[in-house]
Amino acid sequence: MSKPLDGKIAIVTGAAKGIGYAIADRLARDGAHLVIADLDGATLEQAAERLRIDHGGRVEIAIGDLSLEEVARMTVNTAVTQFGTVDILVNNAGGGIIRSFLEHTPDTLRTTIDRNLWTALWCCWLALPIMKRQGYGRIINLGADSVRNGLWDHAAYNAAKGGVHALTTGLAREFAQDGITINTVAPCAVNTEQLATIAEKFPALAAKFLSVIPMGRAAEMTEVASMVAYLATAEAAFVTGQVISVNGGSTML
Ligand SMILES: NC(=O)c1ccc[n+]([C@@H]2O[C@H](COP(=O)([O-])OP(=O)(O)OC[C@H]3O[C@@H](n4cnc5c(N)ncnc54)[C@H](O)[C@@H]3O)[C@@H](O)[C@H]2O)c1
Repeated sequence: MSKPLDGKIAIVTGAAKGIGYAIADRLARDGAHLVIADLDGATLEQAAERLRIDHGGRVEIAIGDLSLEEVARMTVNTAVTQFGTVDILVNNAGGGIIRSFLEHTPDTLRTTIDRNLWTALWCCWLALPIMKRQGYGRIINLGADSVRNGLWDHAAYNAAKGGVHALTTGLAREFAQDGITINTVAPCAVNTEQLATIAEKFPALAAKFLSVIPMGRAAEMTEVASMVAYLATAEAAFVTGQVISVNGGSTML
């Protein structure tokens, strides 16, 4: 039986664990061959092996800090040399350094922007010429619903993710007639190890994060991955420039 992403080549960044792994797992299940990229080489290798065993498709890895141009270039080149192209780019690498604004240091501020914005910028910049040449591409960025509701302790993170949201609309217009769609999936709190750690160390803060979600729970990683998987299909051809929340109703419209 055919699958929605049969034969498609996808790069998923930050896929060693967490939401990125869940996305890689879903895209592999849907038939894509993968390049998965991450800073954490050992965990990435284990993730690749698990994906090969579970889904039988080809999975290549790219290890390094994607906020550096040369690492992003190596990642995109891995897709080109191993598979001949890039059809789908999922800019998932990122993550918050969640603290009140004045508790940030110069280092944590810079890392927040590097990790969430530069990773996506470089990968878009390097993958788009390939997508434009072939007249087809799907880019899905991971943003954050906190940009919309100004969640506690998220100002610096929102500055970075707000950049990702803005990159999405600008690129979507620029490449609208090239067969390329660019969208962002913006989750609320997601049921990850980080949320579990926050809930353990700062239960009142975790409760506040959940209090803004009408459904009264965090998103499951698979619920984020399924939205990414839809946007990655050929069928999603007329959806571009959108920031689509997966948020249990915490912001509406
Ligand atoms: N977890 C949430 O509640 C939540 C909510 C909204 C948005 N998001 C976004 O979803 C994405 C995934 O989040 P997660 O919770 O799974 O995070 P995570 O920390 O569990 O995983 C992120 C992965 O990205 C990798 N990574 C980070 N910086 C990198 C870099 N510079 N180069 C290469 N790899 C890098 C990490 O090594 C890690 O494996 C992130 O962009 C995050 O900002 C998460």
